[in-house]
Amino acid sequence: AGAPAPARGRVLLAAPRGYCAGVDRAVVAVEKALEHYGPPVYVRKEIVHNKYVVETLAARGAIFVDDTDQVPEGARVVFSAHGVSPAVHAAAEARGLQTIDATCPLVTKVHKEAVRFAGDDFDILLIGHEGHEEVEGTSGEAPDHIQVVNSPDDVDDVVVRDPAKVVWLSQTTLSVDETMETVRRLRERFPLLADPPSDDICYATQNRQVAVKKIAAECDLVIVVGSANSSNSVRLVEVALESGARDSHRIDHAAEIDPAWLDGVRTVGVTSGASVPEILVGDVLVRLAELGYGDVQEVRTATEDLMFSLPRELRADLKAAG
Ligand code: F3S
Repeated sequence: AGAPAPARGRVLLAAPRGYCAGVDRAVVAVEKALEHYGPPVYVRKEIVHNKYVVETLAARGAIFVDDTDQVPEGARVVFSAHGVSPAVHAAAEARGLQTIDATCPLVTKVHKEAVRFAGDDFDILLIGHEGHEEVEGTSGEAPDHIQVVNSPDDVDDVVVRDPAKVVWLSQTTLSVDETMETVRRLRERFPLLADPPSDDICYATQNRQVAVKKIAAECDLVIVVGSANSSNSVRLVEVALESGARDSHRIDHAAEIDPAWLDGVRTVGVTSGASVPEILVGDVLVRLAELGYGDVQEVRTATEDLMFSLPRELRADLKAAG
């Protein structure tokens, strides 16, 4: 309330931003499971890497655990969008858990590529961040054949058995440019390096990077909404800075905007990671308007209409219930 703030500049709002099809499906899966079976519903790891989403689902009765041994025997557990290794499936089965697998189908696609290349006895160089849940899940498909390559600087340390039988795969949420640099260096060392059959970096990651690139050069500041452990959100800050933004910050919610960031700023870019609900972006726009940035223009570089159907186990139960 009160008098409108004097205008200080404009906002360029990147599109596409926010939820991808895999996140939407995973979040709806937990919501539907809570509705259909009633709480508690256990979820292994954060269903998606967003603090607000996790807190909201926890308030509705989801119980987030680190691993399946924390789930009571026979209870129901949802696997997160990032995917799990076969060992986790086996552990859940041994405990008699009823599982709902919300792994994004585009992550499952990479798992299948890993299984196939391992079956052909390739050395698989998985470009990705060591320790990230997706990388742990994918590596677990073929631990004897996969090694993780974190960055272009890691390439010199790679050792393979047969340079004629090497393929690279990647995490789905990396920076496209940095990944291509890693591949370029890998190919310098291994000229016969095979490519994945299709892009492993997913459409949503790519589209959000293209959109932020488009606005970055015009922006004095780019605000990325997303959590610290969200790989694709963190990449958006890097891409914004590499593409000409003078400054860029990642925030979980509007209250984290430091008014000092806006000193001398004429154009503010806003985008959000693939795990971020639009309500959080709405709050950021309200806050920016209060600070004198009420003129918002959306800049769209692609339209997305991909949707994934709910996990099979859940669909079957919902259908049986009519
Ligand atoms: Fe899937 Fe990509 Fe989203 S892998 S979960 S569509 S960021």
